[in-house]
Amino acid sequence: MISKKMADRINEQINREMFSAYLYMAMSARMTEAGYHGVGKWLMVQYHEEMFHAMKFYGYLQDQGSAVELKALAVPSFKETGIKELFQHVLEHEKGVTKSINEIMAQAIEEKDYATQSLAQWYVNEQIEEEKNDMDILQTIELVGNSAHGLFLVNIELGKRGLGVPSDFTKLGGGD
Ligand code: FEO
Repeated sequence: MISKKMADRINEQINREMFSAYLYMAMSARMTEAGYHGVGKWLMVQYHEEMFHAMKFYGYLQDQGSAVELKALAVPSFKETGIKELFQHVLEHEKGVTKSINEIMAQAIEEKDYATQSLAQWYVNEQIEEEKNDMDILQTIELVGNSAHGLFLVNIELGKRGLGVPSDFTKLGGGD
């Protein structure tokens, strides 16, 4: 069992992860419409990653006998149309998610909630990866000089990204 306060915070985090998925889905649509199909695919893979993050918390609440309470999703808003600016936005967004995950860890430590600390550690590690991916992409864009030809190649490279997380959420939670 976890505290009501912790369950509330995790339900809030489900909403934040779902919003991340929604944001990347919206970005994917804009980039694909602009002809950057590779970037669009990368962002759609990221959408799946975020759905997995949300569902991992969802499964955890159910395993702990706590109620899942879904909240309204905000409409994602972004103005960037260039690849570099878009990934700067993505990186800043992920820094915010890292802060949010760290808050859960801090609360779990304060409550001496070792189970949630263990779960939160997975997300702490995941956020290192998330930020690194974005920083690597931004570094590559810098290396190609943000040129049209270079961005075309970056677009092709990003389109090679495959799904790295389960997409069948019936297998999450319930002690599986
Ligand atoms: Fe769920 Fe991109 O952090």
